[in-house]
Amino acid sequence: MRVHEAGALHAGIGAAPGWLRVPADPNALETHLWPGSVRRADHGALVLGGLDVRDLARQYGTPVFLCDEDDFRTRCRAFADALPGGDVYYAAKAFLCLATARWASEEGLGLDVCTGGELAVALRAGVAPTRIAFHGNNKSVAEIVRALEAGVGRFVLDSELEIARLGSAAAARGLRADVMVRVNVGIEAHTHEYIATAHEDQKFGFSLVDGHAAAAVADVLAAPSLRLLGLHSHIGSQIFDPAAFEVSARRLVQLHVAARDEHGAELPELGLGGGFGIAYTLQDDPLTSAELGVRLRSIVAHECAAAGVPTPRLSIEPGRAIAGPSVVTVYEVGTVKPVRLESGASRTYVSVDGGMSDNIRAGLYGAAYSCTLASRTSEAPPMLARVVGKHCESGDVVVQDEFLPADVRPGDLLAVPGTGAYCRSMSSNYNHVPRPPVVAVRAGAARVIIRRETEDDLLRLDSP
Ligand code: LLP
Repeated sequence: MRVHEAGALHAGIGAAPGWLRVPADPNALETHLWPGSVRRADHGALVLGGLDVRDLARQYGTPVFLCDEDDFRTRCRAFADALPGGDVYYAAKAFLCLATARWASEEGLGLDVCTGGELAVALRAGVAPTRIAFHGNNKSVAEIVRALEAGVGRFVLDSELEIARLGSAAAARGLRADVMVRVNVGIEAHTHEYIATAHEDQKFGFSLVDGHAAAAVADVLAAPSLRLLGLHSHIGSQIFDPAAFEVSARRLVQLHVAARDEHGAELPELGLGGGFGIAYTLQDDPLTSAELGVRLRSIVAHECAAAGVPTPRLSIEPGRAIAGPSVVTVYEVGTVKPVRLESGASRTYVSVDGGMSDNIRAGLYGAAYSCTLASRTSEAPPMLARVVGKHCESGDVVVQDEFLPADVRPGDLLAVPGTGAYCRSMSSNYNHVPRPPVVAVRAGAARVIIRRETEDDLLRLDSP
């Protein structure tokens, strides 16, 4: 693109997006965006897990991920309750560390891992191997062998090559591995293209087109070292429309029925994946886990009854909907700068002490977040602001649009809700910024579950 006058491209900025309301009270918290224990105390600062965020920021520094342990555990239990007689696997990729792996297992969930690294953390956390499901579209032979030898409960197979790889690795050890076949059900889930996983032209699963998935079922059934538990589908992430899950479940059940009709195989299970959306801003309106459970169970029961096959045991794999809402990132404001535009508009840029290294989602997916002044209340009028990080990129945005009190100033703390999923797990050391710690809070006590990186950590891989 040729150089152009800035104003021509950026005209019209300075206006809030349509969904963002000017808040009647900028100090009020939209409670459904925040973890269960968050409130604004009489002194004006936010309190999380019974602890004042100003004290937590003093003790642990900023930026800091504050994780409401009870909120995380409550969401695990809510999903388990939503699927009675079924299985819930926490999708570890959302946010995995020893603590979250243990919380999920203590609340009765299994763990979905998709790499050798995630498997290693799950095993180190003491998760029962039989409760681990191994996903991924390119499991190496070494990963497969390690998982087999550890006694991992199930493999979700993604290609013909993988059927052969696992089949021979299991046969060589005299084992019979439990597997699911991942099916690409051919659905355009309305989410960001990078996180939609069941449209036709992407890498995951066996397609329904040309009987590819049916052939995979036949191949697994024919392999003596593999036992087919059932079919699996995951259609993408941050999905709100229950119709997408319903269409997926219906297509999966059709193949499940065909396995019975063509091979006499009564598959005991059906995996419906994860991807359940959460609220990051006021424009998001997710279903509860209970509502989701009812819909998923009834669609499968209905389709199976119509086909005259027994209803299989269901499993789901929520990641974001468990970890996402339980974490808040707290940053300190460093600079506040009004940027005036040729058009006469202006925008206030509020720079904080983290950014795209602790939350890449705005930059990568254009994800919208919200935030609030966390260290005090303010009587100043609301001002449209953009919260940005400290990295050397103009795309280093934390919150694209938010109304903050007009007197926001250096030293203030800002809190961003909904950062528990895919923020720490996709974090980086870009610009040699050490990654923030994760501090779990619960009933007035705080505990570091991942410590802050140090400058020594930044150098630990360099040859001296
Ligand atoms: N099951 C499978 C097979 C998956 O691939 C995923 C996510 C999940 C379950 C959990 O999805 P969830 O419930 O968390 O939406 N980095 C992106 C999300 C990528 C999701 C990858 N797979 C983001 O930040 O939005």
